[in-house]
Amino acid sequence: MVRRKSACCGASALEVTLSVLFILMTAVSVTLITLMATGKTHTGPEPTLPPKHEPYLIGVGRADCTGPPADIPLMGYANPQQTAAGIHTRLYSRAFIIDDGRRRVVFVTVDVGMISQRLRLEVLRALQLKYGNLYRQDNVVLSGTHTHSGPGGYFQYTLFMITSKGFMKDAIEPLVNGIVKSIDIAHSRVRPGRIFRSRGELEDSSLNRSPHSYLNNPEGERHRYKWNTDKQVLVLKFTDLDGDGIGMLSWFAVHAVSMNYTNRMVSSDNMGYASYLLEQDKNRGQLPGQGGFVAGFSSSNLGDVSPNTKGPRCMSTGLPCDYLNSSCPVGGTKECKAFGPGNDMFESTRIIGHNIYMKAQELYGTAAEEVTGLLHSAHQWVNMTDVTVQINATHTASTCKPALGHSFAAGTTDGGGDLNFTQGAVEGDPFWDGIRDAVLGEPSNQTQACHHPKPILFSTGEMNWPLPWHPQIVDVQIITVGSVSVVAVPGEMTTMSGRRLREAVKQELQSEGAFKDSEVVIAGLSNIYTHYITTFEEYQVQRYEGASTIYGPHTLSAYLQKYRGLARAIAQDRVSELPVGPEPPFFEKLFNLLAPPNADRTPVNTSFGDVLEQVFPRLQGDVVSVTFVAGNPRNSGDIRDTTFVTVEIHDNRTNTWEVVYTDASWETRFHWLKGSFQRSNATVDWFIPPAAPSGSYRIKHFGRYKEKKNVFKPYEGTSDVFTVTDSFYYQ
Ligand SMILES: *[C@@H]1O[C@H](CO)[C@@H](O)[C@H](O)[C@H]1NC(C)=O
Ligand SMILES: *[C@@H]1O[C@H](CO)[C@@H](O)[C@H](O)[C@H]1NC(C)=O
Ligand SMILES: *[C@@H]1O[C@H](CO)[C@@H](O)[C@H](O)[C@H]1NC(C)=O
Ligand SMILES: *[C@@H]1O[C@H](CO)[C@@H](O)[C@H](O)[C@H]1NC(C)=O
Ligand SMILES: *[C@@H]1O[C@H](CO)[C@@H](O)[C@H](O)[C@H]1NC(C)=O
Ligand SMILES: *[C@@H]1O[C@H](CO)[C@@H](O)[C@H](O)[C@H]1NC(C)=O
Ligand SMILES: *[C@@H]1O[C@H](CO)[C@@H](O)[C@H](O)[C@H]1NC(C)=O
Ligand SMILES: *[C@@H]1O[C@H](CO)[C@@H](O)[C@H](O)[C@H]1NC(C)=O
Ligand SMILES: *[C@@H]1O[C@H](CO)[C@@H](O)[C@H](O)[C@H]1NC(C)=O
Repeated sequence: MVRRKSACCGASALEVTLSVLFILMTAVSVTLITLMATGKTHTGPEPTLPPKHEPYLIGVGRADCTGPPADIPLMGYANPQQTAAGIHTRLYSRAFIIDDGRRRVVFVTVDVGMISQRLRLEVLRALQLKYGNLYRQDNVVLSGTHTHSGPGGYFQYTLFMITSKGFMKDAIEPLVNGIVKSIDIAHSRVRPGRIFRSRGELEDSSLNRSPHSYLNNPEGERHRYKWNTDKQVLVLKFTDLDGDGIGMLSWFAVHAVSMNYTNRMVSSDNMGYASYLLEQDKNRGQLPGQGGFVAGFSSSNLGDVSPNTKGPRCMSTGLPCDYLNSSCPVGGTKECKAFGPGNDMFESTRIIGHNIYMKAQELYGTAAEEVTGLLHSAHQWVNMTDVTVQINATHTASTCKPALGHSFAAGTTDGGGDLNFTQGAVEGDPFWDGIRDAVLGEPSNQTQACHHPKPILFSTGEMNWPLPWHPQIVDVQIITVGSVSVVAVPGEMTTMSGRRLREAVKQELQSEGAFKDSEVVIAGLSNIYTHYITTFEEYQVQRYEGASTIYGPHTLSAYLQKYRGLARAIAQDRVSELPVGPEPPFFEKLFNLLAPPNADRTPVNTSFGDVLEQVFPRLQGDVVSVTFVAGNPRNSGDIRDTTFVTVEIHDNRTNTWEVVYTDASWETRFHWLKGSFQRSNATVDWFIPPAAPSGSYRIKHFGRYKEKKNVFKPYEGTSDVFTVTDSFYYQ
């Protein structure tokens, strides 16, 4: 068993009253974590604007929401070793506000693993304080891109707090403030504009990672589709009244897991890189994160969709893994890994992100079908633990209290668990069930029966200490902009689940004749996280996605019913009659297992920012690297709109240094290396692009170190000047 260091957290810093809790929680989490998987830009040829339609009012905004890139576990793989240690690319929140003169809707796509209930509640509270009743739970959708390389620590349910080492103010605040700021910017920029829609298909960028589950769907249904994942890319193009582009919003179904669990740097992964490329393209000459054009790439029904297009192989032999359970003859589940199209995870991220960007850019360029018509928004809170669904003419069934199955702990071929769990388990394992029963208690017979054929590993709905392990109250929400409907889904729907949901919503919308030619799109990882949603048939197979469908086999049916209700209310323009539903809890006493960092120290006779390893040429590739004496980046406080790194070029005419790259740039990597005795290093790599102008350059590192309790001091360091000539580098 891989043992987590239980002395991780400097218990001395914790309140005495919390210490008992801490010890107990750590005892539980040791077992659990080991159990768990583990300005204006002219946009080329413009469509001729149809004259009759009233324009919308549109505002777009983007804000940095990068949290502390140190020590906090990255959210996604639930791998306790994968804690933040630097920045690959920054994380942004991108907000789109649309107003028809009568109603307003807001769609926000955020570079995070998922929106948590706590995050949404805090954002809604902040919006209420600022804007009163303008931005509410029913007209604001928050969706995560599902990057697995963003800091966790922003959850209020116990299971997620354990994998995040608790709830951390310094982790949630940048997210809340970044999301609100992106809405502030969009709000301040609202002006008349138009929207055009376009849709195409992107091949070679996604793969179904549980084809065996997919195949369990009815043959007739499967035959209606060419692929076992959705390849469509939907693009909304936003322009001002002159036809100049101001923003783009798109959806594509693929997991943002091109960066694997060995990555320790905060990264927006493939979807974030697609945004980055389109924004850099439209905001020419600006640093990343700057410029008026906002390009959002939102997640969709990506539950069973991997970007690792080479597919799963046994690492030691290179042979395909077992089709049914994704394990290898030697080494089991851990040996079976899916690889991306590139030679390493950075190249895979680049290729997938670039493919998505290219398709969106093409669709943006040709988007001519104008979106017109009124806006609607419908929202409800639903107690997902007891929704009754009609399964046939004579019988009903119910959803269940949340529980995770054994195959949850197997993980997926995009990142497996550390233990001997395999996917497709429909029987428990006496060994692990014994540990579970001893530590957490046995699942009730009722819950076991409800989840059948899922062998329950964690009966989270029956675990309420110190706080509930999983949510009961879940958001369901739809916003419509003319003929485009965005269905905000509280988790990861599989391909077929998403198709069924889109179809159901479309049917309801069109039933009243008001909505013709509607385009329904799933916005994934929205508002609250409830893991996966498979079809009833996929659930029977109990691969990772089925084992992680927490409200039982009828979860999708329950959602279909709820979203149909919302769509019908919209079609009949009777949204105000929808019951609001039970309000979700806002827990006060959250726990934290990760104390703030200690004071920083330097090696003898050095100061913070001193260069430890000077710039030197690497033998392979044009990479410059420099190492500084550093402080723990978590001691830098709120790092939004700052940078730990600049690459600067010397301007001989003015004798000044101009910043050409920051830590948000794809070309830079900021690694934080934690040493002993509270010492640490910052290593900055700059991958010199072939197009870099020749000249004299230097690299700087900025940070703050903690001198003693509550005393933080800024520092900076500068490399020697080096010369770049036609991509060759001389010191
Ligand atoms: C996976 O399934 C194969 C048969 O398809 C079986 O031989 C193997 O033992 C299974 N592996 C595990 C770990 O259950
Ligand atoms: C992650 O990617 C790196 C290359 O960037 C590779 O060496 C490593 O094997 C991959 N690990 C997993 C678990 O996929
Ligand atoms: C959800 O429903 C269950 C079963 O009816 C009930 O026990 C529970 O209290 C409800 N939860 C909330 C938060 O209302
Ligand atoms: C309805 O579903 C129940 C439970 O699965 C089953 O026992 C019954 O035979 C079904 N009835 C019909 C008419 O299909
Ligand atoms: C997993 O490992 C435990 C302990 O080594 C063992 O008792 C159990 O049988 C194993 N389970 C499987 C499915 O291999
Ligand atoms: C489940 O049912 C069995 C058989 O009726 C019983 O022995 C067992 O104690 C029950 N378990 C729980 C947790 O109620
Ligand atoms: C630190 O600097 C002092 C004074 O220059 C010198 O005497 C000492 O040897 C240095 N220590 C180390 C470890 O370099
Ligand atoms: C920091 O850099 C120094 C000099 O290269 C090296 O000796 C030391 O091991 C590094 N520390 C860490 C934590 O990487
Ligand atoms: C800038 O000036 C320095 C010294 O005057 C010179 O060595 C260098 O080549 C100049 N760089 C460029 C890019 O012209």
